[in-house]
Parts: sequence; structure tokens; C-alpha cells
Amino acid sequence: MVDFQEFKNRVSSQFNLSLNSYKETQLKRRIDNLISRSSASDYNNYFSLLTKEPKEFEAFLDYVTINVSEFFRNPSIFNVLENQVLPELSKKTPRLKVWSAACSIGCEPYSIAMILEDMAAGKSYQIDATDIDEGILKSARLGLYSSEHIKNISTQRLKKYFVKVGEQHSIQGIFKSKIHFKKHDLLLDSYAEGYDLIVCRNVTIYFTKEAQDQIYRNFSKSLKVGGYLFIGGTENIFNYKDLFLEKVSTSFYRKV
Ligand SMILES: C[S@@+](CC[C@H](N)C(=O)[O-])C[C@H]1O[C@@H](n2cnc3c(N)ncnc32)[C@H](O)[C@@H]1O
Repeated sequence: MVDFQEFKNRVSSQFNLSLNSYKETQLKRRIDNLISRSSASDYNNYFSLLTKEPKEFEAFLDYVTINVSEFFRNPSIFNVLENQVLPELSKKTPRLKVWSAACSIGCEPYSIAMILEDMAAGKSYQIDATDIDEGILKSARLGLYSSEHIKNISTQRLKKYFVKVGEQHSIQGIFKSKIHFKKHDLLLDSYAEGYDLIVCRNVTIYFTKEAQDQIYRNFSKSLKVGGYLFIGGTENIFNYKDLFLEKVSTSFYRKV
């Protein structure tokens, strides 16, 4: 009989995932839910199904990692980004280097790109956008969105950066090329350095305290001095001082 812990260990080593770093109760509820909807009857059968059916594994990854997103998620916090943080950062450096970590379908990095374009058209910047899920990165590169995703975008920006395709909204091709999407696992991969801004929102809530702490330590190392970490509206870094960060306002921490 394979129990949940054994299932997690098997999946982790077979697919190179770190399931032990996700909060246990939530993860188990989601996986049990998936099993009840599949043709498998227990963890053992479900594991075999995942190894045999790539589609089943894709569905598993999608469901377990949760990829809900929208443009300018929490608009009042994005206002702080647009009116305080990015102007401060862009005064300091000729070419801003931004990382949107766990970017899901791309709404987050495209939102930042729109702000940067509007702030200083023609000025160069770099946006790296990463996620653990290759499938979701494909959608991000495609850049096709429903009216639910775009509800916080101003009419002006919608006109400037999107074209309507049937009921959907497609990001302008030229704009897509400004963002470099690639696969990155926050729990297992190494972190690049030299960022002015790191945005990581609505993902660490699924991780254990230990995993959260390690991720924030890594982010702090990846930031330039004076650079900002931008986290989710309901998230907090309580030991920010130990990580060489100062809290500037809700969701924003600056590297000291
Ligand atoms: C709820 S979405 C957040 C999207 C966006 N940051 C936002 O706030 O709208 C969470 C994303 O985290 C990604 N994710 C989950 N575990 C991850 C990991 N270990 N490393 C990188 N990304 C991960 C998921 O694939 C998903 O796209």
C-alpha cells in the first residue's frame, strides 16, 4: 500500500519536483481530488497513470501548482509599483533588469512591461519571466487572454497593447518579444543575480515556512543593493531584517 508520503517521494524523484516543500494539507486535498476524478483508485495506480500518460501528468502539474492570474492583480499595489518603485529604480540605472518569478500565463510580466513602456518609451529594459510549468509558459508566449484576465487594464492600454481576436485579446507581437520566458523551479534551480526588481506573488503561500524562507534568502542574494522584492498582497516576510531587506510598504521590500 502506497501512502501519501511515499507517493510524494516517488513523484518527486520521477519528475524532479520538490513536493515535500508544498504545504501538506492543501497539497493532499488537491491530489485526492484529482485521483477521485481520474481512472485511478489509489496513490499507487495514480502514480502509474502519471508515468504512462503525459497528458495526465500535465493536468496534475496544472492542478497542483495553481496558475490563476490576471493583469495588474491588486491594482492599488500596482499603482505603488508604477508611481513610486519603478520611477525610483529607473533613475538609478539606465537599463532595468526585472524578474517575474512564477509568472503563470504571463499577465504579471506583461503588466510590468506596459508600465515600463509608458514610463519611458524606447528605453531599454530586460524582463525575465519564469515558471515551473512548461505548458503555462507556452500560453504566456502566445499571449491570448479572456475578458476576465484583462479587467484591470485601462482602455488606453488595451488599445495600445492588444488586438481583439474573436472574444479574446492578443498581446501585440512586437511587445511579446520584450519578455524572455523560461522554465525555472523556485525550489530546485539556481537563481540568477543582478536584478533591480523581483516580482514573486501568490506562489510562496503554497510552500512550507522553510521553503519560503530559503526562497526569500535566494531572492535577496539575486537583488542589487537598492533593488526591490515585490510579493503578494496577503504575503509577509517577517524576518526581512535577517535577509538584508527593509520593508518599504505593503508588498515591497528593498535590499539594503
Ligand atoms: C497562482 S499563480 C501566480 C501567478 C502570478 N504570479 C500572479 O500573482 O498572478 C502560481 C504559479 O506558480 C507556479 N509554481 C508553482 N510551483 C512553482 C515552483 N516550484 N517554481 C516555480 N513556479 C512554481 C505555478 O505553475 C503557477 O503558474
